[in-house]
Amino acid sequence: MNEAATTAIRVEHTQQPRLPQVDFSNLKFGQVLSDHMLVADYVDGHWDTVSIVPYGNLSLSPATSALHYGQAIFEGLKAYKFADGTISVFRPDKNLERFNKSALRLEMPEVPEEIFIGGLKALLDIDRGWVPGTVGASLYIRPFMFGTEAALGVHPSDSYKFIIITGPVGAYYNKPLRLKVETHFTRAAEGGVGFSKNAGNYALSLHPTRLAQEEGFDQLMWTDAIEHKYVEEAGTANLVFRVGDTIITPSSDTILHGITRRTIIEIAKHWGYQAEERKVSVKELIDGIENGSVTEAFAAGTAATLTPISEIGYEGQIYRLPDPAQREFSNRVLQYLNDLRYGRIADEFGWNFIVG
Ligand code: PLP
Ligand code: COI
Repeated sequence: MNEAATTAIRVEHTQQPRLPQVDFSNLKFGQVLSDHMLVADYVDGHWDTVSIVPYGNLSLSPATSALHYGQAIFEGLKAYKFADGTISVFRPDKNLERFNKSALRLEMPEVPEEIFIGGLKALLDIDRGWVPGTVGASLYIRPFMFGTEAALGVHPSDSYKFIIITGPVGAYYNKPLRLKVETHFTRAAEGGVGFSKNAGNYALSLHPTRLAQEEGFDQLMWTDAIEHKYVEEAGTANLVFRVGDTIITPSSDTILHGITRRTIIEIAKHWGYQAEERKVSVKELIDGIENGSVTEAFAAGTAATLTPISEIGYEGQIYRLPDPAQREFSNRVLQYLNDLRYGRIADEFGWNFIVG
């Protein structure tokens, strides 16, 4: 265990472990949460206490500023168990980097590495039994921070809580996705907060997503705020397409810069594919599906992993993509990522952070 982290962290073990009751063969995303959580408090301009305590409710003032004005950000990452029992977290340094970018944009304090990574390491060491050992399953990790000042004036909170909770998960999506191209509602505009992982970005997506689900779609494909002509991302994941031998992911300042998307682009380049981050118009995508040049499309994210897109709905028409089983790049990269994350092949990029 990390020396620096353990000396600074107060640990209180649960007296009522729930682990023995968990059915690891039937995991629904986010419904089972591990025995312990890490809680750090920011007061008077510095990070004060850091504790690992039994998972449980918080006590908050009804005037808690995050509940009114939305200073609330989060991350999502996963821990995997190797066949020999080693626990590894995938690229947590990238989540820390993105978390602190979100914090800056929402006028919140940065969380130092020794709390985010050191605290996570100590937490995982205590709850290591919660990391599933079966392929396809992992421990989802949810670090989050919110303003805790009890005051109704609109200003940055003077105090914050940073918390990490975890829970064993299986697949977020268990079938290929039907996505609707959203041409009315907007997720994010230039100069806004689309690149940050803040709670409000998800709140605003719920109503348009429900409308699309009522039409039989699983998720939205968001488009740019100005013309609704350029593809952005899905509600819970980024988008990746294969056009000929080129792997393409939409680039924009208004999307969440996903770690899975970036990882896949890095692997594609390493394998010798042409890989591009660039603007992708809805027309280019739809024309490519119609003329057969778009052969693969998938959602890429920590929770979503790599989920094939089967159909895209646009202006009342449905456009069907080739059979997921035949998608060479998607299947190859998913296999590679699984092998890497479960420690079955050499970690040639140094992406596995070994907890021990
Ligand atoms: N876009 C959105 C809106 C997301 O919620 C996520 C998930 O975190 C992603 C993209 C993918 O990001 P990552 O690959 O870092 O999980
Ligand atoms: C993730 O993939 O970690 C996400 O945050 C997506 C979703 C569960 C909000």
